[in-house]
Amino acid sequence: MKTTLISSSPSQLETECLVVAIVDNAAEPKNDGKAAKPKPKLLTDDKNVINAAADLIASGEVTGKVLETTLLHKPARLKAKRLLLLGGGKAKSFSSAEVRKLAGAAVRTLKAKGVKSFAIIAPSGVADAVKAIVEGTYVGNFEPNYYQSDRDDKKIDKLVIVAKGDEKALKQAADQGRIIGEAQNFTRDLVNEPGNRMTPTILAERAQKMCAEVGLKCDIYGGEKIRELKMGAFWSVAQGSDEDPKMIIMRYEPGDAPEKPVLGLVGKGITFDSGGISIKPADGMEKMKYDMAGGAAMIGAMRAIAQLKPNLRVIGIVCASENMPSGKAQKPGDVQIAMSGKSIEIINTDAEGRLVLADGLHYARQLGCTHLIDAATLTGACVVALGMVNAGVFANDDAFYNAFNQALAKSGEKMWRLPAEDDYREMIKSDIADIKNTGGRWGGAVTAAMFLKEFVGDTPWIHLDIAGVAWMEDNKPWIAKGPSGIAVRSLVEFARQFADGSGSASDAATGKEHSVAGSNAAQKRADSGAGL
Ligand code: BES
Ligand code: MN
Ligand code: ZN
Repeated sequence: MKTTLISSSPSQLETECLVVAIVDNAAEPKNDGKAAKPKPKLLTDDKNVINAAADLIASGEVTGKVLETTLLHKPARLKAKRLLLLGGGKAKSFSSAEVRKLAGAAVRTLKAKGVKSFAIIAPSGVADAVKAIVEGTYVGNFEPNYYQSDRDDKKIDKLVIVAKGDEKALKQAADQGRIIGEAQNFTRDLVNEPGNRMTPTILAERAQKMCAEVGLKCDIYGGEKIRELKMGAFWSVAQGSDEDPKMIIMRYEPGDAPEKPVLGLVGKGITFDSGGISIKPADGMEKMKYDMAGGAAMIGAMRAIAQLKPNLRVIGIVCASENMPSGKAQKPGDVQIAMSGKSIEIINTDAEGRLVLADGLHYARQLGCTHLIDAATLTGACVVALGMVNAGVFANDDAFYNAFNQALAKSGEKMWRLPAEDDYREMIKSDIADIKNTGGRWGGAVTAAMFLKEFVGDTPWIHLDIAGVAWMEDNKPWIAKGPSGIAVRSLVEFARQFADGSGSASDAATGKEHSVAGSNAAQKRADSGAGL
């Protein structure tokens, strides 16, 4: 998509469609509880644009309520062929999050009508608005119907943003919006592909190609290397599949960044989760092609980080495997030894995400990560708890959580903290091994997090359970249904804030020493390579 910034008067613009936001500037509701009459206000001071919309506003048809869309042809005294008024909701709460959605809604409204280009007036708060417009436009342009023979690739291919301000700052904001928007779509593209077209090998190839393009180092380990490194938890999931598993390691190491902190981004990359021997019911099993959404989010985030260049070391790790039943598959009751040396009793082979992540998190610490964030479509229980609105967040360190929460506030992605307190540890104790891979009927999202916690030691860690939000069942005005690209925006924002050491992030970034070794017995077992 070609993006142009201009500062000329909107009414003089020759374009297929001029898009302008309209907010409701009504006063707060009175004490009698009655909502005040809407007071629509166009977010432009161009008199001709205001006049062109005047009758619609006077008629009461246009109120400025959220995502209200009104399209006018041949608007009087404008050079644009059409005028699209987009409701931004209450003026008071109008922010760049709304601007991003409006831009997405403009794309989706117009491309459905075969319009391929438009011009949009940036509301005030200009640089942020420009970034939000570009990002929202990219996100709105994505369609998931890849394999439909009559797929008509209706896309917006030209965007003009009308904005007044420092040219360099606006250009930079537009670039940032593009990078973050493209990264989300890159992730969504990986997640959208079905299991037969997105095997661990293909995922690794895609990551490798991306890394070469943006200048990241990339290592790929296959099954042999995974066994050699004694990643017994990871391998236990992969062993039942004919597809070779892959561990994808992407490194962003800017030369002038301090040695510490090193941020580790670890993603679950199950390219298809059948459940294994504890096989899932047929109904809805096809959805389990998106069980690599956490890994894909890390790949997308690394792409944006490489391009935005925060002054911080970041290592991205994706544990990619299928989870399949076969004669070679692991069985309930089996005991596996993780890379850390911890022994794990397998109760349910469908609790596989935590197994691959156990070794991914441990290995990230071995590589020197001082702070860890993982993302995974980990549990149905998290979907039961939070529905398809919020992702679950778990943390073992309040300062680190608070720092991440600041990034969430900025990104606008919805995530809700759930506990990972040691009171829950009892639930994953095993009679035969150190721990078991399920925690019984209750608190399933928490016991899954507790399992991961066993492998991060004292390293500050955040776990994102994105099972309910990685795939959207319905279209929204600003984004198509299908893969959402959740977590990319927050991870990129967090990396930037963490690099700046802003707010409480600096406390969390002090780079304390954290030991990697597990318990002595476990460590000995790991050293001797028992269990593999
Ligand atoms: N990939 C699933 C979790 C999932 C469920 C993702 C729904 C997206 C939507 C995970 O591997 C899984 O099967 N978890 C089990 C764990 C159970 C066996 C303890 C679950 O949640 O049922
Ligand atoms: Mn599973
Ligand atoms: Zn899974």
